Amino acid sequence: MNAHLTDRGAVVTGWGTALPDRRITNADFEARLDTTDEWITERTGMKVRYHGGTTAGLAIDAGRRAMEMAGLTGTDIDYVLLCTTTPDWHVPASAARVQESLGITGGASDLNAACSGFVYGLVHAHALIGMGLRRILLIGSETLSRITDQEDRNTAILFADGAGAMVIEAVDGPGQLLSFDMGNDGTAIELLYCDIGDHLKMVGKEVFRRAVTVMVESARRSMEQAGVTADDLTLVVPHQANIRIIEAAASRLGLSMESVAVSIHRYGNTSSASIPLALVDAIDEGRVRAGDLVLLVGFGAGMSWASAVLRWPAMDGRTAS
Ligand code: COA
Repeated sequence: MNAHLTDRGAVVTGWGTALPDRRITNADFEARLDTTDEWITERTGMKVRYHGGTTAGLAIDAGRRAMEMAGLTGTDIDYVLLCTTTPDWHVPASAARVQESLGITGGASDLNAACSGFVYGLVHAHALIGMGLRRILLIGSETLSRITDQEDRNTAILFADGAGAMVIEAVDGPGQLLSFDMGNDGTAIELLYCDIGDHLKMVGKEVFRRAVTVMVESARRSMEQAGVTADDLTLVVPHQANIRIIEAAASRLGLSMESVAVSIHRYGNTSSASIPLALVDAIDEGRVRAGDLVLLVGFGAGMSWASAVLRWPAMDGRTAS
């Protein structure tokens, strides 16, 4: 599964995020559920998260910011790929609303690979560019609070809402994606699922155990394909589900936590939005420069997993002809 599919690569040229207005602290859960700030902080690393909005609405806000940064308007975008496991409707794709609102003249579809969605979407975006598209708006957007039982302390504290977007543009040459890995184990569906019209059901301990394994194995495959080691990586952006999962995976991979992006205390678990939210914070903190190696690694319901190694591009706005 080497990523050098074509001579036409892609690079990120803009990014943006969006959060709903309602800020929920651990104290808010403490006030109405049988839980404590101490338990949530120690067992998950979470402190604050945001609830509200719609998946398309958050996606539009994040997408608009990414397009502005890239200096593009809707007519420049060939495709909007909205990664979400919480669409606003069954029909049509929530991406249809994003397409209409941002004036995008290209195609629009949703992609659901649960919390692995953004990395799956990143790979799909590179593949579409390899086949000739020029500019893709890739978004991870979720409103998990809508499918979470707010009376269930096992899940209510974990899942939250938000969005992160990236503009991915074609370049001549190999581009930023050095390697990727995607997989799914459908025998584990029952560990984390949500029936239509119902709330999320989760076997937390088993999800935890498997999450560490699949993250480590997927990251190793991507690193091996890219020919890089843990020491070569400047930044690692894992899915933000539990600080203990992140720490356990980092330790097994031989990664220092200094290279790992952690934003779980700020946003909780926002599924396919968690990696772009954490990545954008890391960029804003000046933690990644042109030429640096970046590993993204996600896992989630399915049980799905995905990882990718990127060589962070220079922001010189090059676009392939
Ligand atoms: N506050 C206080 N106690 C809580 C609680 C909360 N919010 N949630 C659960 N508990 C209780 C449990 O009921 C259990 O009580 P019991 O021993 O009386 O039955 C006790 O804490 C221990 O529960 P356990 O499930 O063993 O805790 P844990 O250390 O495994 O942590 C999770 C629970 C859910 C935080 C953890 O398993 C986890 O993060 N799993 C992965 C979830 C995940 O990543 N999901 C998304 C995938 S994308």
